[in-house]
Amino acid sequence: MQYINDTLEGKHILITGGAGFIGSNLAMYFQEYHPKAKVVVFDCFRNEETFSNGNLKSLGHFKNLLGFNGEVIVGDINNKQDLERLEENRFDYIFHQAAISDTTISNQEIVLRSNVNAFKDLLQLCLKTHSKMIYASSAGVYGNTPAPNNIGSGEIPQNIYGFSKLMMDNLASKYAQSFPFLHIVGLRYFNVYGKNEFYKGKTASMILQLGLQALKSKKVRLFKMGEQKRDFVYIKDVIQANIKAMRAKKSGVYNVGSGEARSYNDIVASLREHLGDFEVEYFDNPYNFFQTHTQANIALTKEFLGYEPKFSLEDGIKDYVGQIQDIHLKGW
Ligand SMILES: NC(=O)c1ccc[n+]([C@@H]2O[C@H](COP(=O)([O-])OP(=O)(O)OC[C@H]3O[C@@H](n4cnc5c(N)ncnc54)[C@H](O)[C@@H]3O)[C@@H](O)[C@H]2O)c1
Repeated sequence: MQYINDTLEGKHILITGGAGFIGSNLAMYFQEYHPKAKVVVFDCFRNEETFSNGNLKSLGHFKNLLGFNGEVIVGDINNKQDLERLEENRFDYIFHQAAISDTTISNQEIVLRSNVNAFKDLLQLCLKTHSKMIYASSAGVYGNTPAPNNIGSGEIPQNIYGFSKLMMDNLASKYAQSFPFLHIVGLRYFNVYGKNEFYKGKTASMILQLGLQALKSKKVRLFKMGEQKRDFVYIKDVIQANIKAMRAKKSGVYNVGSGEARSYNDIVASLREHLGDFEVEYFDNPYNFFQTHTQANIALTKEFLGYEPKFSLEDGIKDYVGQIQDIHLKGW
C-alpha cells in the first residue's frame, strides 16, 4: 500500500542500514511504490566479527536485497572516509537505520560510537545538504517505566542500547532547535516483526522464533509464565510511519507501535491458529534486564504524522506466517 501521494520522481533517498531488516523493507517499498526515486543503500553488511556474547557485529545480509535495483554502497558509519563518499550526492531524505541493533551488547564504547557519534556526523551532513532526516530510535529508551509509554516521560533506559537511542533523541532535539529549517524525525520503534528479520538470528522477534520452534519441534520455550506484555508492531506499519514522517507536521520524536500491549501467550495462541497445536515449556528468565510491559502511546504520531496502524497482532501474524513456513521449509 502506498502511503503518500507523490511519485517522488528524481528524489534522492539514502537508507543507512538498508541491508538489515527494516532498512531493506524501506528500500523495497520505494522500489515498488516510488520507482522514479533514486535509492541508495549504505550498509557495512556482515563479516565474521562477533561481540563477546558470540553475536555478529553487524547483521545486514545481501539476501534481504535480492531484487533491489538501486545502488548499494558498502561502508561503515563509524568511518569518516566512508561517510565522505555520501557527500558526493545530495540526498533529499536520509532514513538512518544503521545501528548496533542488538540490545544485549554490553560494550558501551562501541554502542555509543556507532549509534550516537555516527548520528551526529549524519546530522552534520544534513546541515550541509539540507537533507531531511528520519532516524530509528527505540522503545528501549523507556526501560522498565510502567506503560503506556509517553514521549517526554519515564525515559530511563536500563541498558546501553536504550541509552544510546535516548542520546540520539536528545541530539536530534538540539539540532532541531538550533536549526529550525532542518526536518528531523525520530521514530521510537517498539517490537517490530515481519519479513526480512531472519538474518537477525537470535535478535529476531519472538514471533519468528516461536513460529520456527513450533514448526521444527512442535514445542516452544517461553520465559515464565508468558504473560509479559509488549507492543508488537508489524513491519508494514513501521514502513507507513517512516513514509509519513517524510511529511511530518513538525520535527520531533514519535512512538511507533500498534498502541496495544500483547503477551507472549497471545503470540502462541495466534500461531496455533495457523500452525496447529504445539507444546509450551516455561523456563526462568536469565536476564536481569527485561522489559515486562511496553505499550506505545501513539496519539502524537497520529496527530503529527497521520500514522494509523493497520495490523493487530493477529493480522500481522496472518500476513507473515507464510514467510515463516517458507523459512522453515527452504531455509533462506
Ligand atoms: N527491529 C526492532 O524491533 C527495532 C526496535 C527498535 C529500534 N530498532 C532500530 O531500528 C533500526 C533498524 O533495526 P533492524 O531491526 O532493521 O536491525 P538490523 O540489525 O537488521 O539492521 C541494522 C543494519 O545496520 C547495519 N549496520 C550496523 N552497524 C553498521 C555500521 N557501523 N555501518 C554501517 N552499517 C551498519 C547492519 O549491517 C544492518 O544491516 C536500528 O537502528 C535499530 O536499533 C529496531
